[in-house]
Amino acid sequence: MSPRVHPDRSIVLVGLMGVGKSTVGRRLARRLGLPFVDSDAEIETAAGCTIADIFERFGEPSFRDGERRVLMRLIDGPPKVIATGGGAFVSAATRALILERCVAVWLDADPETLAERVARRSHRPLVRGKDPLPVLRSLAAARNPLYAEAHLRIPSQVAPHERTVERIIAALAERAA
Ligand code: S3P
Repeated sequence: MSPRVHPDRSIVLVGLMGVGKSTVGRRLARRLGLPFVDSDAEIETAAGCTIADIFERFGEPSFRDGERRVLMRLIDGPPKVIATGGGAFVSAATRALILERCVAVWLDADPETLAERVARRSHRPLVRGKDPLPVLRSLAAARNPLYAEAHLRIPSQVAPHERTVERIIAALAERAA
C-alpha cells in the first residue's frame, strides 16, 4: 500500500527527452487525483502546429519563449502534474519559477538507455536525422547539473513506469513528513 500524498503545489517532471516524463506524469496524476498537463502539448495547441514545425519555421529561441510563457501560465493555476519538455528547466527564469512555486522531480536515466528509446520515434527536432547517443550525451553533460537542482531525483533507468510512479510517491511522502 503506497503512502497518501496530497500535494498543495504542482509537481513538475524534468529530465532529458525519452525519460518518460509524459507517461509517468499521466500515471502519477491519476494516482494523486490531480489534473495532468504536458507543456509540449500545450505549446502545440497554443501555436496550432507541432514542435518540429515551430523549430523549423520560427527557430528554437521562439520555441523557448513560448515554452516559458506556457509554463508560467500552467504554474499559476491550481496544483497539477506537469510534464515539461527536456529543455524547459534549462532556462534560469523558468527553473527559478518552478523551484519557488512547485515540487520539481528529476527523472534521471543515462544517455544509452534514452538513445534506444528516442531512436524508435522521429518527432524530436533535436535528434531528427542524427545519431541520438552523442546528442543525448552532450545534453546530459550540459543539463544534468541543472536538473540536479530539482527537489527530488528519481532514477528511472530500466524500471517500469509504474515503479517510477511508486518511487515518486514515496519521495513526496517523505518530503511532506
Ligand atoms: C526538447 C525536448 C522535447 C521538446 C523539444 C525540445 C529538449 O520534449 O520540448 O523537442 O530541448 O530537450 P521531450 O523531453 O518531451 O522529448
